Amino acid sequence: MNIPVLTLNTGKIIPAIGYGTARVNDGELETALDFALKAGYRYIDTAYYYQNEKVIGKVLNEWITQGKLRREDLFIVTKLPPFGNYPEGVVKYLKQSLKNLQVNYVDLYLINIPFGIKDVETVPHPALTGGPVEWDLKTDHLSIWKEMEKQMNSGLTKSIGLSNFNKAQIEMVLQHCSIKPSCLQIELHAYLQQNELVDFCKKNDIIVMAYSPLGSRSVTSGNAKQGLRKTNKPLDEVLRIFNMLCLSKYLIFRVDLPDVLSNPMIQKIAKKHSKTEAQIVLRFDVQRGVIPIPKSSNEGRMKENIDIFDFELDEEDLTDLKLLDDGTRFLDFKDAEGIEDLPEYPFAN
Ligand SMILES: NC(=O)c1ccc[n+]([C@@H]2O[C@H](COP(=O)([O-])OP(=O)(O)OC[C@H]3O[C@@H](n4cnc5c(N)ncnc54)[C@H](OP(=O)(O)O)[C@@H]3O)[C@@H](O)[C@H]2O)c1
Repeated sequence: MNIPVLTLNTGKIIPAIGYGTARVNDGELETALDFALKAGYRYIDTAYYYQNEKVIGKVLNEWITQGKLRREDLFIVTKLPPFGNYPEGVVKYLKQSLKNLQVNYVDLYLINIPFGIKDVETVPHPALTGGPVEWDLKTDHLSIWKEMEKQMNSGLTKSIGLSNFNKAQIEMVLQHCSIKPSCLQIELHAYLQQNELVDFCKKNDIIVMAYSPLGSRSVTSGNAKQGLRKTNKPLDEVLRIFNMLCLSKYLIFRVDLPDVLSNPMIQKIAKKHSKTEAQIVLRFDVQRGVIPIPKSSNEGRMKENIDIFDFELDEEDLTDLKLLDDGTRFLDFKDAEGIEDLPEYPFAN
């Protein structure tokens, strides 16, 4: 399948859709990634925090050594973990990611979240195993960004960018950087369209990537636990929740949040185009110049999600879809007591 590409402000090209790997079960990831590559995905989205880079590296290496792919055909994205949010942490964790992924460079390295957790010598970091952790109240975006630029100049990453940063935080980086961020990865779906941020990024030549583009279905639908966001949770608890949201080991259900794909308006538009609801919302991203990175462990749904380049939403569809934007955010970290008082907490409003 021929996937359209976009050009980053570094001049590098990036596929118009990516494959999200968070929360693919450990045992499933090898097979799932194999399916994803067969289906045509070339942008693979991971993070040090997901603890799945080694499996991804193994599969990609097999494809390359068997001559089925060249390294330059891939667009590999990984992210600096929150406990790497200090200047020396950048090269430390980037090098570990490169080793895990069995590559000499990644195509894009992102700062995963704007707030930091104190780093420790223990491996793996206790944030990954539910151990005690401490906020780092001195997270300094500008000194971290300088190190990001250094790693790009040294060739360990071809482009650099941000994730979960708000407009003011991005502006600050833009005002002081030598190399502009190429991308911003944020939660973005039909209920959280992020118009202001998307427009701001367009003006500044930053490409937006939509995480949870289907509304993070595994987290928001189902029949189990409810009310996680209603109690004040200490930091360890929010990290446990963050792990559940980001890692493959756990699965939680939040029936208190709406399911994007069951929306009657989206269902109506899907019927009109003889497409699925998932294809409609992913196509909506593409037509906005946003790169969606849906996750699926299912071969059929992976194929479905990438098969969105043979039809177009018309003006009426776009107008209807725009009406669905009600600001529902699924990942806001608000379960941690006091998190909103952190200086770098990005979702203050
Ligand atoms: N930068 C960040 O902080 C951040 C945060 C969260 C996520 N991410 C990235 O974004 C990626 C995607 O986000 P996400 O996993 O939260 O949510 P998502 O892609 O919106 O939703 C994934 C869920 O939707 C289901 N699904 C996939 N295709 C479907 C289809 N065609 N029809 C119906 N259901 C479908 C999947 O189930 P099946 O697997 O059973 O198909 C899975 O339960 C992650 O994997 C990760 O790479 C980044």
